[in-house]
Amino acid sequence: MHLPELTTERLWLRPWQEADLPALLAMDGDADVRRYVSDGKVPDPTAHEKRLRERIRTNGDEGLGFWSVFRRARRDDFLGTVGLVRLTLYPGIELDYRYRAAAWGQGFATEAATACLDYAFRTLGLRELVALVYPENTPSQRVITKLGFMPAGRLRAGDADLLLYKLHR
Ligand SMILES: CC(C)(COP(=O)(O)OP(=O)(O)OC[C@H]1O[C@@H](n2cnc3c(N)ncnc32)[C@H](O)[C@@H]1OP(=O)(O)O)[C@@H](O)C(=O)NCCC(=O)NCCS
Repeated sequence: MHLPELTTERLWLRPWQEADLPALLAMDGDADVRRYVSDGKVPDPTAHEKRLRERIRTNGDEGLGFWSVFRRARRDDFLGTVGLVRLTLYPGIELDYRYRAAAWGQGFATEAATACLDYAFRTLGLRELVALVYPENTPSQRVITKLGFMPAGRLRAGDADLLLYKLHR
């Protein structure tokens, strides 16, 4: 299944393409962006590029995957990414997002996620989404709360003790 393009009032969400690799690698090379993502470390660029290429190849499988986020008026200026991922350490589909530091604090994460949630619940017909957030990641907890997710306990992921959130359709 191909992921559709999505739009919001200010944003254009386009499924990942290989052309996004330089922007994704630049964003993921920033320690501030990665502090509360995965294991909290900046990934090795070569291994990370391989993982991203594989993700791009399988993007849209089961209707899940990632979008690159741009302003509608600036379709060449990559802001960040939002996606739906099947978790391995918990039975559920996760809402996942991260943005270039220059794009923070403008409501983009919340706005793009709204379109992604609409796709997940209306188009895919999912009944529930989960989110995993580091306890120290206050901005992301703010985003997830604004979207309507409710706290649902904690989950151990490697060395991290993450907050688990759930949103029902
Ligand atoms: C978390 C992240 C996605 C938020 O993106 P964003 O576009 O700035 O989010 P929004 O502007 O939609 O909302 C951010 C909210 O956090 C609040 N916030 C920002 N910094 C904060 C801080 N240090 N303490 C408390 N609240 C903070 C903002 O005020 C805003 O809330 P408001 O709308 O009530 O004012 C972005 O910071 C990011 O990409 N971080 C790095 C990657 C990451 O952590 N991803 C999430 C993994 S779970």
